[in-house]
Amino acid sequence: MHAPDISDNCNETGASDPEIKVLVIDDSLTIRQGLSRDLQKLGLMVTEASNGSEGFDIASGQRFDLIITDIELPGINGLDLCKKLKSGSATKSTPVIIVSSHDTEEDIEKCFEAGAAAFVGKLDGRQELRRHIEEVLSRSFFLRERMVLVVDDSRLIRNIAHDGLARAGFNVITAENGIKAIEQLKLYKPDLIISDISMPEMDGYALCSALRMKPEWAAIPFVVMSTAGERSVIRRMMERGACAFIEKPFNTEQLVITAEKLLSDHFQLLLKEKERLDMERSLMLGSIASLVQALEARDLYTRGHSETVAEVSIGIASIMAFPQDEIDKLYIAARLHDLGKIGIRDDILLKPDQLTAQEFAIIQRHPVIGAEILSPIPSLAAIVPGVLYHHERMNGQGYPDGLKGSQIPVFARIIAVADIYHTIISDRPYRRGVARERAMTIIEEAAGDELCPECVNAFMQWLHSRSASITD
Ligand SMILES: [Fe+2]
Repeated sequence: MHAPDISDNCNETGASDPEIKVLVIDDSLTIRQGLSRDLQKLGLMVTEASNGSEGFDIASGQRFDLIITDIELPGINGLDLCKKLKSGSATKSTPVIIVSSHDTEEDIEKCFEAGAAAFVGKLDGRQELRRHIEEVLSRSFFLRERMVLVVDDSRLIRNIAHDGLARAGFNVITAENGIKAIEQLKLYKPDLIISDISMPEMDGYALCSALRMKPEWAAIPFVVMSTAGERSVIRRMMERGACAFIEKPFNTEQLVITAEKLLSDHFQLLLKEKERLDMERSLMLGSIASLVQALEARDLYTRGHSETVAEVSIGIASIMAFPQDEIDKLYIAARLHDLGKIGIRDDILLKPDQLTAQEFAIIQRHPVIGAEILSPIPSLAAIVPGVLYHHERMNGQGYPDGLKGSQIPVFARIIAVADIYHTIISDRPYRRGVARERAMTIIEEAAGDELCPECVNAFMQWLHSRSASITD
């Protein structure tokens, strides 16, 4: 799960239209224009309306991803407008944020009753509004990308449910009984199943039981559609893991609300899980950073090495136009690239003289030791190759696996350049570090044979841009 960053114009949400369209309704020209400017700076496409009726007409004529409205408007006020939007077939799935200076608990309650997705006080400031916009859009895009499987032997009910859910923005697939539903589940990954009970071949009860037996299907929320006479079956199905029921006859509104509610709850759970994982990850990274510090504290000469290698590595990656999430991963990989040295004995790691062949072989185990320390941590899976292969060389003469050229993961190729650069400019007990210009020549000469030419090229550009900015 990934909340959209509105400053990136939400491309990652997977929405087919990369432009996020927002309708701003406020009778004050100053407020409207100020808000529009802020939203445009975030990369959103803004349309303005100065009153409720105009806002409703514009919203009914084209699809918006978000509507932001004031309460006090000439003619139809913001609350009535919100209710109207929520009952209009073209506008009901568009989230509405109400921004108002009427911010008593009662006022806010009225906004939510009218169907608003969020309320922001006029005095809450831009940050607060931006936070709500991100949250509301993220939730809305999440729902829009969800798939619902409707299972019913009545073609009429399948069609009604299909049309209602599809209008609300869901992807919908259907099946006429449990057997067909299982066939669909093998092809698609629905986020929600809404199923009838009495069906030929395989009924809803058997379907619900079958799904609970399969780990990959057991977590999909299961909603039962039933008639009043089926209460005892519903109870048994709830015990089997069904999470809600809708009584027939239902209207599509009820169906959509139930689906949105269940998926939002699911979304909230995913968000919480993500927060928990993020927290765990940062705690773990803190512990690993302490390990690296402990490692570097053993050796005066390598103190700060991993920090510099990380800084140079992300400099190279930014020249190579890596996306920010990849740069973040590379930073961690580079910080931890020599972690495995923690498993090398002091008398070898800190030996001031040249190493014997046997001692060098022991030192060469450090990438594998580092990868072994990190591999059990699932959230660090993407960075392990950078640690494991940072001593591989383009000509296949590196270690531990003698990988060649593009077989070497790009993180490892970048870290190799940064690592060599910092190693040769740094003093060691047995030699002085070389000057920066000399180091650049050495690295240029190693491009192609030992080091990745694209990475070296990006490194040179980064170093030039950096020295240019320092002399500026
Ligand atoms: Fe290393």
